[in-house]
Amino acid sequence: MIILGIETSCDETAVSVVKIEHGNFKIFSNIISSQVKVHAKYGGVVPEVAARLHIKIILPLVERSLKEARLNWKKIDYIAVCSGPGLMSSLLVGIETAKTLAYVFKKPLIKINHLEGHLFSGQNKVKEWKLPIIGLVVSGGHTQIYLIKDYLKYKLVGGTIDDAAGEAFDKVAKILGLGYPGGPAISNYVAKSKISKLKKHQPIILPRPMIKSNDLQMSFSGLKTAVLYAWRDGQLKFKGIELEKARLSLATDFQQAVIDVLVKKTLKAAEKYNAKIVVLGGGVSANFELRKQLGEAIAHNGNVKFVAPELKMTGDNAAMIAKAAYYHVKKKDFVEPFKLTADANWELR
Ligand code: KG4
Ligand code: ZN
Repeated sequence: MIILGIETSCDETAVSVVKIEHGNFKIFSNIISSQVKVHAKYGGVVPEVAARLHIKIILPLVERSLKEARLNWKKIDYIAVCSGPGLMSSLLVGIETAKTLAYVFKKPLIKINHLEGHLFSGQNKVKEWKLPIIGLVVSGGHTQIYLIKDYLKYKLVGGTIDDAAGEAFDKVAKILGLGYPGGPAISNYVAKSKISKLKKHQPIILPRPMIKSNDLQMSFSGLKTAVLYAWRDGQLKFKGIELEKARLSLATDFQQAVIDVLVKKTLKAAEKYNAKIVVLGGGVSANFELRKQLGEAIAHNGNVKFVAPELKMTGDNAAMIAKAAYYHVKKKDFVEPFKLTADANWELR
């Protein structure tokens, strides 16, 4: 079967064509048009601007996606679209496009939860899913741990009680003057200075919030505030190279603090629910240290398989929407075009 996926929940316009044959996923096209440069000057996504840019580019991207896949509409079996959670005005562009295409070309339509997409972004790397699965979604809007006991059945078993991990990266990068988006800014800054002696003797200066709590909850808001106060003190105390060292030290320890908490809680969840597979997804899963440390911790802990998406599928993309749609097709879980609406706060369950 061949599925065309559409994703416009935030500031990426994405269209993808995926072929699924005997459980193998082939990505025929995966086009992502990012608006990140436009929103960078505002320090965050401006919803009205995002929606206007989606409208401008969505149909040309559908065309390009088919062209790259060397297919015409006759060959497309299904259309899948992300219908939440996300920014309402952004979601509506993808949804109205998908509804119209499904109606005109008479294709069954599938609605996909954005987080379900992130959970399946590593799907093409796995031949056979073994249940139960523990899924960690870490993005700019979410940091959640899901238990997947059966296909299309998701149970939220843990996650942040305040800021998402990606949001914390973005805010901390702003505090430290490292740029936008904060995740890549901080991880590149820390990675580049690996050679510095400071890295070898990196002291623990920041808290690891809730790391010892007996549940699967996390918190990143206090960590961000701790960076803010420490950086203010640093600016009063230091100048020149010493101030630069303080900045590097804070960025390095902040990244490690987030990773420490994510690794600890994900392992705890895997153990508690006897997971066979741990999947990672979401924009923050591009973080090299997180992938490495979580992968190593899981390998160290026994017979659990670790699946992380390819780098180009860590952030928002439409291949993940098409991949997740496969399981809905198998259960004939379709939606009438006229009945589909956006749900900005759609909870995955
Ligand atoms: O999944 P995504 O593209 O959009 C949402 O659904 O939110 O995630 C975007 C988030 C941003 O907060 C961004 O700073 C973060 O992912 N991010 C990273 C890295 N690359 C992107 N965070 C940490 N390390 C990275 N390398
Ligand atoms: Zn996302």
